[in-house]
Formats: sequence, C-alpha cells, structure tokens
Amino acid sequence: MNPVLSRWVLPLLFLLSAGPAVSQPLIVPPLGLPSPLPVPDDNPLTPEKIALGRKLFFDRRLSPNNTMSCAMCHVPAQGFTVNEVRLAVGINGKTGRRNAPALYNVAYQRLLFHDGREFFLEDQIISPLTNPVEMGNPSIGYVVDKVRKLPGYEDEFRAAFGTGVSVATLGKALASYQRTLLSGNAPFDRWYFAGEAEAVSEEAKAGFAIFTGKGRCVSCHLIGEHAALFTDHAFHNTGVAHLPLIPEKTVEVDLGSGFVVRLPRTQLDQVLLPPEKDLGRYEVTLDPADLWRYKTPSLRNVALTAPYMHNGVLLTLDEVIDYYDRGGTGAEGQDPRIAPLGLTPEEKRALVAFLHSLTGDNVTTLAQERYPHAELGGTMAARPGATGYPGP
Ligand code: HEC
Ligand code: HEC
Repeated sequence: MNPVLSRWVLPLLFLLSAGPAVSQPLIVPPLGLPSPLPVPDDNPLTPEKIALGRKLFFDRRLSPNNTMSCAMCHVPAQGFTVNEVRLAVGINGKTGRRNAPALYNVAYQRLLFHDGREFFLEDQIISPLTNPVEMGNPSIGYVVDKVRKLPGYEDEFRAAFGTGVSVATLGKALASYQRTLLSGNAPFDRWYFAGEAEAVSEEAKAGFAIFTGKGRCVSCHLIGEHAALFTDHAFHNTGVAHLPLIPEKTVEVDLGSGFVVRLPRTQLDQVLLPPEKDLGRYEVTLDPADLWRYKTPSLRNVALTAPYMHNGVLLTLDEVIDYYDRGGTGAEGQDPRIAPLGLTPEEKRALVAFLHSLTGDNVTTLAQERYPHAELGGTMAARPGATGYPGP
C-alpha cells in the first residue's frame, strides 16, 4: 500500500471498526495540537486527494524546465524548509528575498506567508508556481495545461475530485497533502499537557519558566490550555528587519557551466542590484504601523528549521536567544516587549533546551516523505532546456 495511504487509511479503518457508525475525522491531531483539525467545508480530506497532493508536491515538472518542485524549498529532511540557505533559491539559482517557512502544522496557520497576504492553502500555490524567482511558470494556466498533458494526472484528478485538472483542484490536492504534515506529541506536550513529569529535563523546565516569565516570549508565542501552536497569528516588528547581515568578505559566484569563482564582496556590490526591499505586513495593509512587521511563527520543531526569521538572518537558536536578550536592534517601531532581558548564560541555555523540547515524535518519519522519481516522469536531465539540477 502507498505509505501515505497506509499512514492515514489504516488508522481510519481502525477507527471505523472500533466505534459505532458515526463519521470519524480522517486525521486525529496528536497531543498538543488543537482538535479537530481545521479543514474547509469545500475541501474535505480524502486519502485520494492527500496522495495526489503528495505526488504534486514532489513533482519537478511543475516548473517550466522541470527542475523545481515545492519540496526543493520545503525539504522534508530539512524541516520542510532549507537549512543551507538564508533566502530561498528558486529556478535557475535565482535568490528570493525571504526564508522558506517550515510547513509543519501549516493546517493551523490562519494567514499565510511572512506578511500574511494569503488566506487559504488552496489559493497559496499560485504564488510559488508563478513567482519568477521560485518555480518560474509564465502563468497559472500554463501549469494547469502542462499537468493536464502529463500522463496519468487527469485520471487521478478525476478519481479524487470527480473533475479534471484545474487551478481549483490543483490547489485542493496540494492543500490536502500539506494539512497532513502534523507534528506534535513532543516531550513538552507529554510533560505540560499529559503530566509526564520525566518527559523533559530540569533544564527545559527552567527554560519554560523563562519563556513564560522573564523572557516575555509567551506573550507572542502563545500556549493554550489544551493545545499550543506558539503563535498569536499576529504580526510584530521584532527589529530583525534592521539587523545587518554580516557581510562575507568574499562571495562564490557561479559563472555557469560549473565555473565558480570567489570575488571580493566590495567588487561585487558595484555590479549587483541592491537586495529587494522588504517592508513586511505594510506591503499588504499599506498601514505605516505595519512597516517591518512579520507573522509570529510557530516554534514547534524549531530546532530543525534553521536559519531563523523571515530573512534567515539568525543562523542558530543561540543567536536567536542572544538577539532577544540584547533587546533587538531598537529600530523604529520595534515592539516594546523586545527589550533587554538580562539573561544569564545558564538561563540562555535553558531557553534553548526548552525550544528543543518542542520537537515532535514523528519528525523522523516525516523526514522520509518523498515520491518515487521514476513515477514522476523519469529522467529529467535529458530534457532540452533543463538547467541547474540534473535528475537524481
Ligand atoms: C523557491 C523556493 C520555494 C518553492 C519552490 C516553493 N516555496 Fe513555498 N515558500 C517559499 C518562501 C520563500 C515562502 C515565504 C514567502 C513570503 O513570505 O513571501 C514560502 C511560503 C510557503 C507557504 C506559507 C507558509 C506559512 O507558514 O505562511 C506555504 C504553505 C508554501 N510555501 C507551500 C509551497 C507549495 C505547495 C509549493 C509548491 C507549489 C511551494 N511552497 C514552493 C519558498 C518556496
Ligand atoms: C512581540 C512578539 C514576540 C516576542 C515577545 C517574542 N517573539 Fe519570537 N518571534 C516573533 C516574530 C514576529 C517572529 C518572526 C520575525 C521575522 O520573521 O522576522 C519571531 C521569531 C522567533 C523565532 C524564529 C522562528 C523561525 O522559525 O524563524 C524564535 C526561535 C523565537 N521567535 C523565539 C522567541 C523567544 C525564545 C522569545 C522570548 C525570549 C520570543 N521569541 C519573544 C514575535 C515575538
């Protein structure tokens, strides 16, 4: 059986056989996550949609030169983000202006993207598919037309939705798969919600006390009575947008065809375009109060999702804690809760230990998410116009 189907269908069959004939949800969220799982009325979860969305998520043919899939910036084995780069790298090596968010528990996000400009997972896909520095398709219609013509998909869409490939069904399939990327039952959950005294270390417990006390973290990264997403679903100016990147003295430049040279940064700055401006939530609301405000991310599995912040400017959790301890950059409009904390080295280590206790029990299984390359059209390297990534 397909591993996704077996992961979700077998528990379903079990539930159906165990209880009276009431309709049970397809997915029961793990300890620590709100229940039931929010799913829009017009896109109920089914095993067929989840399996189809999974195939699409890993299919590089969703980009014009068959190089970029969703999974290349949301890499399962790298916390559904990319640990190696601060800013997302898209088609033909083009660099975007933001860090790819981890997709764990994305089903619970009320607004999508760092600036919250999108509302539903179903609609969100249009942005990466057509963004010239991400998947680089000329239009969403181009993608629909291409997927329709790929062998197999039209039939699979009909089986899952009763209708063929369209923007709507493409969005529904990808959304359904992403809603299954749940991760909870972390040591923290077993300690805090299930009362298992030994589930976390004494150091992590001390870190929790700072998180909810002296550190003021919990005022934005919320913990509920029965569940915790560690976000208030709101936007704040943490001062991070004004943190200068430490300039590398020399930079690797790919001249194409595998020739890489190292050039001094100063020489490069004379020819490169300045990095694109990023004004945060302001870009959506045009309200000056929203300048440089970004969405509070969930902290679940945060130990796996470096680098941090919308621009990936902080590389480790130690750097994040040092940043908050310093009181941010003190930039214009910075939230007053981001102020010097006076943490001792022990307190900082405890906070980091607490953040590590938020790693879910299924992350190893999730890291193995993939789709067989051969079933996605075989060798892509041979295709004319394919550049960048050779087929595996
Ligand atoms: C080139 C890298 C890249 C590719 C390819 C890519 N993404 Fe992303 N993704 C990003 C970045 C960067 C952001 C944040 C952008 C922003 O905030 O403006 C993002 C944001 C998201 C979000 C919002 C998450 C949140 O917490 O707000 C979702 C969901 C998502 N991507 C899913 C997908 C899907 C599905 C695909 C394939 C159709 C895809 N991504 C392809 C880089 C990528
Ligand atoms: C005023 C609200 C607020 C407070 C207080 C706050 N945070 Fe945050 N936190 C945010 C926002 C907003 C972001 C995202 C900023 C960005 O993307 O530029 C963030 C990002 C983070 C990240 C990076 C997550 C990621 O995936 O990139 C970590 C880790 C974190 N916070 C931990 C903490 C800790 C620990 C504290 C307490 C010392 C704390 N936060 C206090 C709002 C807050």
